[in-house]
Amino acid sequence: TSIDLASILEFTISLARDAGDLILEGSEAIQRAAGDESQSTVGEKKNSVDLVTEYDVRVEELVKKKIFERYPNFKFIGEESYSAGSRPPLTDEPTFCVDPIDGTTNFVHGFPFACISLGLIYKRRPVLGVIYNPFLNHLYHGIKGHGSFLIRNNGEPKRLPLYPPKHLTSLSQAVLAVEWGSDRGSTAITSKGSSFMRLAGDPAKGVEGGRMAHSLRSMGSAALNYAMVAQGGLDMYWQIGCWPWDVCAGIVIAEEAGCVVTGSQAVFAASVATPAFGDVTEEILTGRKYLVVRAIADTN
Ligand code: IPD
Repeated sequence: TSIDLASILEFTISLARDAGDLILEGSEAIQRAAGDESQSTVGEKKNSVDLVTEYDVRVEELVKKKIFERYPNFKFIGEESYSAGSRPPLTDEPTFCVDPIDGTTNFVHGFPFACISLGLIYKRRPVLGVIYNPFLNHLYHGIKGHGSFLIRNNGEPKRLPLYPPKHLTSLSQAVLAVEWGSDRGSTAITSKGSSFMRLAGDPAKGVEGGRMAHSLRSMGSAALNYAMVAQGGLDMYWQIGCWPWDVCAGIVIAEEAGCVVTGSQAVFAASVATPAFGDVTEEILTGRKYLVVRAIADTN
């Protein structure tokens, strides 16, 4: 059996826009309630920086319902369903992999970088992705083998990357994205901190080391980091600790824009290899000509 990815994409784009309306409505409500402690609806998951709101759950319920109405045989993996204990094993069947609000911290704080990330996995590989930031009205989409595109303000789709790829020969020519993630335990924070230091400037080598990036950025959403590398505004994204729903859509969109994705692929495999940090810089400094996405997944 094969699946009609073009018609699934049309459905998924319209679903993303419907979800986006609810995300915007939620943002308004949460910003208003934030001024009144008794009204606060922001909850915590595994720790005080792992946030969830009623809108994460409502958006996921909306998309899950619409997906099952249209594709009753598809499987569904979603961030909030997973949290609530629904953890279907990955099979060869078409499976939507959804983060209803990626960038929940931004969403809660009114920082307008949050999106819905809708990925489709088929035969255990990500094959279709839609990432929609309703605050900026930027919608990214891609189908494996058919390119990826950005639609801004409902205009014409523009093929990604938007401009010819840069030819980077050194980290010192790059702007990179990193994220703190929600794991702030001592091992994780030490390894993240030392990675950021090495990316931003090795104190031992300084600029002479030639490895200091122009700067580091954090979009606050794994999916939007992927999308921005695909677009060409970032040269690389590196993170420890992504979940499948954070990266599924982004993998398709970035790879179709000519990016190299490593590590995240492991999210879909049985075992996870976490390459040494040195490999990241080597990959930019040698072999690869341009855009590199590097998201390193962990197992938790
Ligand atoms: C998180 C965001 C964040 C990244 C985390 C993700 P959420 O997703 O993408 O930028 O650092 O690893 O889990 O919780 O906002 O859906």
